[in-house]
Amino acid sequence: MSNVFESTHPLVLHKLTKLRDVNTEPKKFRELVRELGALLCYEATADLGTKPLTVTTPMGDAQGVHLTDRIGLVPILRAGLGMVEGVWELMPNAEVWHIGLYRDEKTLRPVEYYNKLPVSPTVEVCLVLDPMLATGGSATATVDILKKWGVRRIKFVGLLGAPEGIKAMQTQHPDVPIHLAKIDSHLNEIGYIVPGLGDAGDRQFGTG
Ligand code: PRP
Ligand code: URA
Repeated sequence: MSNVFESTHPLVLHKLTKLRDVNTEPKKFRELVRELGALLCYEATADLGTKPLTVTTPMGDAQGVHLTDRIGLVPILRAGLGMVEGVWELMPNAEVWHIGLYRDEKTLRPVEYYNKLPVSPTVEVCLVLDPMLATGGSATATVDILKKWGVRRIKFVGLLGAPEGIKAMQTQHPDVPIHLAKIDSHLNEIGYIVPGLGDAGDRQFGTG
């Protein structure tokens, strides 16, 4: 699949296995979502723009770089929120723009309930954060919103993806790379990823 990146990093796969486990409590689940968010965003940002920068060390000059791209993190509420803190530890200057969507349980279509983006974009690159890419409705709707806002470079960073959601993203937004810890088997009859991890929002927030 072009433009889809499935992590092969042992740390990611180890943490994902713990995350899936039905016996993992919300506190540990949140910790794992935070850590996996950071690891996957690290992998997803290998092509960020830089400019040369010379710094003086106690021993002389060193040629280095500094980041030139301004980064926006766009967590899809609620479940994407848990990925933000870990990514912020790596990119403390990233701006965070929340998009609120929930999936209608009957139609499985996303319903927008929160969006406070300013009139024009303030960043060059947006990382859309959501643990679950199921039908792809929420992710594609968020990318639609960001493209209308005017952002050109968008990446989706999630933990688990179903083939159905990946196909939807690739069809509607072929320019958006998809970074995942794992591609799972399929969606069940109520739109849940199998084997998946259950409801990512409920497991983080102790609801449901
Ligand atoms: C979950 C998940 C995604 C969406 C994925 O959110 O966090 O946003 O479903 O499904 P899709 O690919 O079929 O759109 P949910 O709607 O359960 O809301 P929540 O995060 O508030 O629990
Ligand atoms: N949303 C979730 O939280 N889990 C799924 O498996 C699908 C959508």
